[in-house]
Amino acid sequence: MDHYALIKSVHIACAAISLSGFVLRGVWMLTGSALLTHRLTRLLPHLVDSGLLLSALWLVITSEQYPSGRDWLTVKLVAVVLYILVGTVALKRGRTARVRSLAFMIAVGVFGYIVAVALTRQPWPLT
Ligand code: HEM
Repeated sequence: MDHYALIKSVHIACAAISLSGFVLRGVWMLTGSALLTHRLTRLLPHLVDSGLLLSALWLVITSEQYPSGRDWLTVKLVAVVLYILVGTVALKRGRTARVRSLAFMIAVGVFGYIVAVALTRQPWPLT
């Protein structure tokens, strides 16, 4: 495996772990589990999301997809920020269970959109 493929695997693995961890924390949020505020639960997502963004940056620099892929890369970056922000509403900042559940579903939807953008390299994958 060449080094580009390796970084891409790390990137995809971090994305998968990020989503799995988010869904798990979402379940803990809905069931009111104390695990949601455990030290590790608060630390690990930062490590995984840093890995996701660092590998993304590495891919952008070495793939020579910039600036030709500027549109879908920009969309991915904006969508990832949205995923993280809406995610914090879902897990922490949402005042009621209803708001948190809604934010949770939107965040998972945004993640699905990012995967579609990644696979098609199109800013609007469904058009
Ligand atoms: C939740 C966030 C993300 C997910 C789920 C995700 C998912 C993926 C997937 C599945 C691929 C492989 C695509 C393929 O080989 O067909 C990929 C590649 C890539 N991603 Fe991401 N990504 C995310 C965030 C980002 C961000 C924020 C950036 C940078 C703005 C980025 C830049 C790239 C680049 C440059 C590639 C390589 C594309 C290529 O080799 O053709 N990703 N991503």
